[in-house]
Amino acid sequence: MAPALRIAVVGAGSAGLAAAQQCRAVARTHNQAIDLVIFERRSSVGGLWQYENDPGVCDIHVPPHGTAGYATRPGGHPMCRSAMYEDLRTNIPSPVMQFRDTPFPPGTAMFPIRGMWPLLTAAEVLAYLERFAHTQDLLPLVHFDTEVMQANKSGRGWRITTRSCQSPQASCTWEVDCIVAAQGRCNAPYIPVIPGLHHFHGRQMHSAWYRYPDDLKARRVLIVGNNSSGADIARELCGGSVRSWSSKSESWAPERVYQSYANVDQPPPLDYDPRDPASPAWCRQIDVVGPIHHIDQNGTIVLQNGEHLPHIDLIVWATGFMYQVPFLAPDQAPMSKAPLVVQDDHTRAAPDIQAASVLHNLDDWMLFYKSDPSLCFLGLPNRIVPFPLTQLQASDPQRWVVQAPGAYTEEAAPGPDVWGDFTMGAEAEAAYVAALQSLLPPSQDPAWGPLPASWHTLRRQGKTLRREHLGY
Ligand SMILES: Cc1cc2nc3c(=O)[nH]c(=O)nc-3n(C[C@H](O)[C@H](O)[C@H](O)COP(=O)(O)OP(=O)(O)OC[C@H]3O[C@@H](n4cnc5c(N)ncnc54)[C@H](O)[C@@H]3O)c2cc1C
Ligand SMILES: NC(=O)c1ccc[n+]([C@@H]2O[C@H](COP(=O)([O-])OP(=O)(O)OC[C@H]3O[C@@H](n4cnc5c(N)ncnc54)[C@H](OP(=O)(O)O)[C@@H]3O)[C@@H](O)[C@H]2O)c1
Ligand SMILES: *[C@@H]1O[C@H](CO)[C@@H](O)[C@H](O)[C@H]1NC(C)=O
Ligand SMILES: *[C@@H]1O[C@H](CO)[C@@H](O)[C@H](O)[C@H]1NC(C)=O
Ligand SMILES: *[C@@H]1O[C@H](CO)[C@@H](O)[C@H](O)[C@H]1NC(C)=O
Ligand SMILES: *[C@@H]1O[C@H](CO)[C@@H](O)[C@H](O)[C@H]1NC(C)=O
Repeated sequence: MAPALRIAVVGAGSAGLAAAQQCRAVARTHNQAIDLVIFERRSSVGGLWQYENDPGVCDIHVPPHGTAGYATRPGGHPMCRSAMYEDLRTNIPSPVMQFRDTPFPPGTAMFPIRGMWPLLTAAEVLAYLERFAHTQDLLPLVHFDTEVMQANKSGRGWRITTRSCQSPQASCTWEVDCIVAAQGRCNAPYIPVIPGLHHFHGRQMHSAWYRYPDDLKARRVLIVGNNSSGADIARELCGGSVRSWSSKSESWAPERVYQSYANVDQPPPLDYDPRDPASPAWCRQIDVVGPIHHIDQNGTIVLQNGEHLPHIDLIVWATGFMYQVPFLAPDQAPMSKAPLVVQDDHTRAAPDIQAASVLHNLDDWMLFYKSDPSLCFLGLPNRIVPFPLTQLQASDPQRWVVQAPGAYTEEAAPGPDVWGDFTMGAEAEAAYVAALQSLLPPSQDPAWGPLPASWHTLRRQGKTLRREHLGY
């Protein structure tokens, strides 16, 4: 038997857990010994499904040189621990969202809700991931409270430096052959370039710090962003929560809730349209406005159509996240020649933290680093179903386990060019999944056959079903 292939997985969220499960399965099938470690800076598995009641202070960093900003915990510490909010409902039907071989428990609703007060949906998903880690016997592989700080090339493999989150002085190095980067894509909250933002007197926070309406304590709120987070927060502030309002929050119900869309002429991509008469009544309280043009010297928000929004006391930036791979130094080979983070006119990027809205120099599958396929990334595309997609990505056996790292060339398995960019959606995702699936050897396990038509149908109906089940 060939010497054990040493694989390091960064992160024990859903993607990292799926990666470890699949590495093991593929290695077993091909009789390849592997030596697998998972590094996780948190104390337990589940990644962002770990709800954290107190997110702490949100520091907004707006660089003076007119480039995008970002938000961090105080002291520049990466991110708050989780972007999860208290009343979150999953936005994908549960039979679609789950890993292929691991259904949600019998009786789980289409959109998991425990059905009883308090509704702890993120907790249900977290319990699911914990059970997955346990039944797949993955927990012994995880080094908890261990942050990957740096990965340097070392021969054909990598030398990884980790540090203990408990005692940051204590660092360790590890030699591995391959790295699976499953650190998640909600680590670098994005703040757009807004001229004059430093004039704004009110409070600001990124959506990742939002927990529940009660603690916002703001009369006039502007939510910026038209995707899931923006829609969810606007809805919760206007009483469209799945649970009823607590009396505590009612005393703080804001007077005005504005939501800034990038394009006021269109309906929002994912959710209800507050301007549509068919949308629920609470929507009427959301004032949809266009993009911000600048903040004037008096701190007033001026929109692109010239309208002023005076006396806003809180801006919630629901403007998404950037990709960031802080453990790969950009000035080191091979990243120095084939950078992952690129500043260009089309990419929103924050140069101060080496983060951007896409990663460059990846293969067609947005999976392997082209210059060095001993490095792969899971779950990069947007508008996909993360659990099953990352599980499938991790099972791609043509490459990392079976072939020696480095033997893989992109020509060996070109992906169809149908998805093109990082935002997929149901149709591109279906094509991607089918193409990647066709690379798998046929499996006896029905869970690993092509996804049934019923899966795709449910996937496409997600929005309609959510409306039926949750009312928005
Ligand atoms: C508010 C919100 C709601 C969402 N709702 C849904 C939904 O309803 N349905 C759905 O399917 N998806 C949803 N998602 C998408 C979600 O991102 C995926 O479901 C999935 O959890 C992503 O898993 P991940 O493992 O890629 O990332 P994460 O869950 O972020 O896990 C990454 C892990 O890596 C660790 N890590 C990071 N860097 C390092 C390092 N340097 N060293 C060591 N460890 C590190 C982190 O601590 C973390 O545990 C939602 C996302 C957000 C933000
Ligand atoms: N209920 C749920 O299950 C739920 C809830 C929340 C989030 N999520 C998930 O969490 C992830 C992150 O979602 P997200 O909504 O936080 O971020 P996101 O999907 O990245 O969306 C951010 C939005 O803000 C817009 N934006 C950026 N700058 C702007 C500006 N200056 N003015 C107006 N709009 C601007 C963006 O448009 P551009 O793209 O043009 O910049 C984009 O539409 C996704 O995977 C999502 O599915 C799920
Ligand atoms: C990794 O490379 C960086 C330079 O990019 C260097 O500062 C660091 O000491 C290296 N770490 C190890 C463990 O070799
Ligand atoms: C939402 O944001 C996207 C990306 O900027 C944009 O293409 C779309 O037109 C926006 N939709 C609305 C309703 O603002
Ligand atoms: C919503 O978010 C995704 C990913 O963050 C982004 O690429 C997209 O442009 C946003 N808006 C729309 C309309 O898709
Ligand atoms: C700022 O406020 C002052 C005093 O109210 C006013 O005279 C001035 O025109 C305002 N400036 C802008 C840019 O609106």
